[in-house]
Amino acid sequence: MTELKKLLAEKISEIAKESFGASLEISGIISSFEYPPDDSMGDLAYPCFKLSPILRKGPNVIAQTIAEKFDFPSVAKATSIGGYLNFFIADEYYSDQILKGILEKGKDYGKTNIGKGETVVLDYSSPNICKPFHVGHLGSTVIGHSIKKLHEFVGYKCVGVNHLGDWGTQFGKQILAYKMWGNKELVEKGGVDELVKLYVRFHEEAEKDPELEARARAEFHKLETGDEENIALWKWFVKLTLAECNRSYDRLGITFDSYAGESFYTDKMPEQVQVLKEKGLLKLDNGASVVDLSEYNMPPCLILKSDGSTLYPTRDIAAAVYRKRTYDFAKCIYVTSSQQCLHFQQWFKVIELMGYDFADKLVHVPYGTISINGEKLATRSGNVVLIKDLIDSAVTKVKSIMQEKSPDLENLDDIAEQIGVGAVVFYYLMNDRIKDTNFVMEEALSFDGNSGPYAQYAYARTCQLLKKAGELPVTKYVIREKTEKELAKVLSKFGETVLSAVKDYEPSDVTRYILEVCVAFNRFYHDCPILSAEDKDVIASRIALTKATNIVLGNALPLICMKTPTKI
Ligand code: ARG
Repeated sequence: MTELKKLLAEKISEIAKESFGASLEISGIISSFEYPPDDSMGDLAYPCFKLSPILRKGPNVIAQTIAEKFDFPSVAKATSIGGYLNFFIADEYYSDQILKGILEKGKDYGKTNIGKGETVVLDYSSPNICKPFHVGHLGSTVIGHSIKKLHEFVGYKCVGVNHLGDWGTQFGKQILAYKMWGNKELVEKGGVDELVKLYVRFHEEAEKDPELEARARAEFHKLETGDEENIALWKWFVKLTLAECNRSYDRLGITFDSYAGESFYTDKMPEQVQVLKEKGLLKLDNGASVVDLSEYNMPPCLILKSDGSTLYPTRDIAAAVYRKRTYDFAKCIYVTSSQQCLHFQQWFKVIELMGYDFADKLVHVPYGTISINGEKLATRSGNVVLIKDLIDSAVTKVKSIMQEKSPDLENLDDIAEQIGVGAVVFYYLMNDRIKDTNFVMEEALSFDGNSGPYAQYAYARTCQLLKKAGELPVTKYVIREKTEKELAKVLSKFGETVLSAVKDYEPSDVTRYILEVCVAFNRFYHDCPILSAEDKDVIASRIALTKATNIVLGNALPLICMKTPTKI
């Protein structure tokens, strides 16, 4: 629809010029088009209120004047209602332009090139080493990866970074705990679980024996200064944790281009601390070095502890400078829970105060919290649900539903995995990211509701229909029925949906759009016989619509990390 909006905008501006003698900006018109709530008001509407101050006429007069003079091939009729210009798009436009365009472009349908020549760095997932990979990280993982896919789709070069939480004084505690009470075989077998037990034990014992804290600090110091034994232990912990995360990444189809975690910046921080000192930004606060942000109504940003060790913000500052130098990004996007909003506001401000010109290219993309069946999850109280367990339970349930529904399906295990994983992801990406999510498994798995299985099922149905239909017989398509036109109309909105999802960092725009496509396709499928229609041309047109739906869903589903099974 983007192309048509542009043509209509040009026409509106042309008529406005000859009737009212004023020039209008095309891009402003394009972005103001609206979709009327019901068909009787046409397919596209343009509110003339915005033109009133420029053209010095009432919106009604403007709408009426332009409607009367509007003569354009793709527009069957233009009317004016209450200050709105309403366009009734010709059916041929949907068949000759939209439908044909989708079929011709195929895998490229919906793509644009707005990001050409620019690089975007995306920091997502970023779990903490020696900590469980729990559902709190699901948001960063799937929202982040989806935002990456969306940016690639519109032409940006993207670098996905897994900024592992692999550095900090807690590793001194972990190492000490292992040295005191650890058992190699147990840790090797139990993985993160075992490491967490050791860490918890450290805190229990340190209550009784405060000496342990000092010894843990000494272990961290040894790690920082290159002690071989400690480095080997730390590397082993990283390996064990990542092995667990990777299993979930594989199932979710999540990938990264870099695993440079916090430790990667150890030797890059002194330079930034020096800059902070030279700019006179560091202040002593109870022995710690901080940047005072009271002028900006924020608490101070902590840079160095009193013992000189660095902190989370220090590493983020060094990482941002490194990424700018390495990738020369147009944007660096950080996807984390909204609990970290203040952290990002603080150090973004520090970057600006340090005089770096890329401060305005750092973007924090926060998301709300997740609860499961109404239960809030908190790491501290031990109430954690692992991403792996959530996926496992979805897959197991899907499998038992499918064993009943389609017991003869080949690769049942494989397909149950794709649907179960997809159900979790789809459910999570359906709501505005900033809203809190309450995960209800029954809703996520509903085969006939707003769900991943529903979407994948519609996609599989298009695949099966096309398989039966064989080659597309002719190339002249005609749109006849209301549900056909409705479907074509929804399909025409894919490109602009992607653009709005990119602009707002909002994968849910695409998820909800996919549902719209599936609903329109199922209505069409219900109302219009496809292969059993009487007329050859009708069959051809309906197969073409099915193919176009297949293309749009096939392009859209991967953008929200969904697999596309062809048979369910
Ligand atoms: N490891 C952090 C956590 O689990 C998230 C890191 C986000 N990225 C960043 N550059 N700060 O909370």
